[in-house]
Amino acid sequence: MGVEIRVEGLTKSFGRQVIWQDVSLTLPAGEINVLLGPSGTGKSVFLKSLVGLLKPDRGHIWIGDRDLPRLPESQLYETRKLFGVLFQDGALFGSMNIYDNIAFPLREHTKKTEAEIRRIVMEKMEMVGLLGAEHKLPGEISGGMKKRAGLARALVLEPEILLVDEPDSGLDPVRTAYLNQLIVDLNAQTDATFLIVTHDINTARTVPDNIGLLFRRELVMFGPREMLLSSEEPVVRQFLNARRVGPIGMSEEKDVSELEAEARMGHDPGKLPPIPPQLMPSDGRLRRGQHPPGAWCAANGVTPPPGSFIDDLGRNWVEEWPRYVAAQTGAPAPHGAPSAPPPHGGPPGAGPQPPPGAPGAWPPPSSPPPGGRR
Ligand SMILES: Nc1ncnc2c1ncn2[C@@H]1O[C@H](COP(=O)(O)OP(=O)(O)OP(=O)(O)O)[C@@H](O)[C@H]1O
Ligand SMILES: [Mg+2]
Repeated sequence: MGVEIRVEGLTKSFGRQVIWQDVSLTLPAGEINVLLGPSGTGKSVFLKSLVGLLKPDRGHIWIGDRDLPRLPESQLYETRKLFGVLFQDGALFGSMNIYDNIAFPLREHTKKTEAEIRRIVMEKMEMVGLLGAEHKLPGEISGGMKKRAGLARALVLEPEILLVDEPDSGLDPVRTAYLNQLIVDLNAQTDATFLIVTHDINTARTVPDNIGLLFRRELVMFGPREMLLSSEEPVVRQFLNARRVGPIGMSEEKDVSELEAEARMGHDPGKLPPIPPQLMPSDGRLRRGQHPPGAWCAANGVTPPPGSFIDDLGRNWVEEWPRYVAAQTGAPAPHGAPSAPPPHGGPPGAGPQPPPGAPGAWPPPSSPPPGGRR
């Protein structure tokens, strides 16, 4: 059902190189979180610390009521079973075919029969679109297929927490779009807590519930997507809008003279771009961690940049939302809202929709969503 991860005062150095200092954040149970930061700021080290592969110098990593850095080896081993991890390099075993790679955690950590293992492996391979590639070796498949195989392997133990390091690096934009949709769909299906490290700004802007940004050994900001996408904080603004103007330089940090030169030249960071609607599960269901569009801005008195929450079809998702939820839960649409779906129905970014009434059509047949929603 997803587990909350609470990181408190985490500090990590390698020799004299301080990677991060006093990092604290809470990854809410069941939500999708994205971690950003310039190359070499310690994102992969952070993931490895979360799963207990690297020991921090100081601080706590609470997984439920267990503090990971302080667990005895036997309990650490048990706690690790909560995690599915896709490492940055995929980490597939080169001499094993894709089927055996994906089956590996099941053979290693469970007493399941080969028939049960086969059912699970084939289900996950179908989920990530790899059916037919069972007998190929990692060296015989494309980079995108390797990522998906790594993702399938990360999913076989039905993890409560999924850590994914740069799922989109080296992928073309179309495959990245499919992978992003897959991540959102997987979160809807599993309710696990997700942490995704990415350099892809479009992914960061449209996929997560929360965004964190690491810079200069610190977590500059961590919070709801809308908070960071409407932030005027120079580092956050520069990074999320992929600009050269701002405190981040080619070798991580600009010096004072570079910043003064920028100011003299009248470089300003420009207007904040609109906040895009969040990518929704392709079958139209609601995720457990889903926040209504515009809710954070409204609750915090922030006016989102003009054009925010409007999808490619011109629909404003702040207005669509109550109707969308009503269609999901079978509750009556709020007063004044038309009962018919919009002309080109479908959640934002979810691609072509099946015809009305077909399975997966939007709005779907009225049935209450499983579990509680916010
Ligand atoms: N096991 C290790 N021993 C010593 N130094 C390490 C180790 N692992 C990572 N580092 C150093 O820690 C720093 C952060 O590395 P990390 O791999 O976490 O960066 P990153 O933010 O993931 O970068 P990228 O975006 O390029 O993947 C780097 O300077 C790296 O050289
Ligand atoms: Mg990395």
